[in-house]
Amino acid sequence: MYKIVRKKDLAPNIFEADILAPRVANSAQPGQFIIVVADEEGERIPLTICDYDKEEGTVNIVVQPMGCSTQKLATLEEGDYVKDFVGPLGRPSEFVNEDIEELKKKKILFVAGGVGTAPVYPQARWFHEHGIGVDVVLGAKTKDLVILEDKLGAVAENLYVCTDDGSYGFSGMVTAMIEELVVNQGKHYDLVISIGPMIMMKFVCLLTEKLGIKTIVSLNPIMVDGTGMCGACRVSIGDETKFACVDGPEFDGHLVDFNEALRRQAQYKSEEIKSKEEYEEKCRCKCQQQGGAK
Ligand code: NAD
Ligand code: FES
Repeated sequence: MYKIVRKKDLAPNIFEADILAPRVANSAQPGQFIIVVADEEGERIPLTICDYDKEEGTVNIVVQPMGCSTQKLATLEEGDYVKDFVGPLGRPSEFVNEDIEELKKKKILFVAGGVGTAPVYPQARWFHEHGIGVDVVLGAKTKDLVILEDKLGAVAENLYVCTDDGSYGFSGMVTAMIEELVVNQGKHYDLVISIGPMIMMKFVCLLTEKLGIKTIVSLNPIMVDGTGMCGACRVSIGDETKFACVDGPEFDGHLVDFNEALRRQAQYKSEEIKSKEEYEEKCRCKCQQQGGAK
């Protein structure tokens, strides 16, 4: 069992939690993920690690409750326990093994979208700690949904916030912000690292391919075991088949077959909706019974 030592709302329907898991915190590196199971009946939820404190032994996760399992996770409070917390899983980001002096010569742009902003933070912080300035584009639907602006602002050389509805920062999606920086302002980047919804990463890659900028993406397909055994997270990278859980989650974005990845991500949508409705019905019945017992 793993204790939730802190829990805080970041935006409507998005919360962060620090989980006491010293072994995971001690070996976590940027780019890796964990699988969390809320309780005996809970499904395995893969989440990219958002931060870790090796001294305190905690790992920070950011969750947007969408399906039945993430909704169950959201009902747990500080002091409660999650049943399983497995990790760190997947390969660390490629740059952690690169020569620091070579990295210093590169101009790097992170592109973070929505909840995908959270896993960008440990990566941007890693560069900051190694004395390398990076730029960050942070995109959200509206001002309410902009998360971690202060934390990212503290580790980025330049932070560019944009919202789809123009309620805060630059008006437009992350792709419009990239075009503004590269095409209109003439900024040069050697590498883009993009994390967010699959559809966003697809369009970022289409643009950066046109602009000739190498791009790394962090894929979040459906996962089951997280150990390369079940095949659920299969993705096509160039003409190779890879498993995101053990070969990724980060890949060369220009080689990813996004159309297949989007199709595979949506294949259990109807089952997910059914399971969410059943869970909500169960909660309603429980509340009515408790109300009736008063
Ligand atoms: P969202 O739909 O609010 O999108 C965030 C931003 O992405 C938008 O503000 C926009 O700037 C950009 N974007 C979206 N669609 C785009 C398009 N077609 N073209 C260009 N830019 C586009 O994001 P959300 O609701 O926070 O996303 C939730 C999704 O993110 C979930 O599906 C979750 O699985 C995924 N996610 C992925 C990771 C990861 O590691 N890749 C991590 C956390 C969450
Ligand atoms: Fe089963 Fe990756 S989650 S192979």
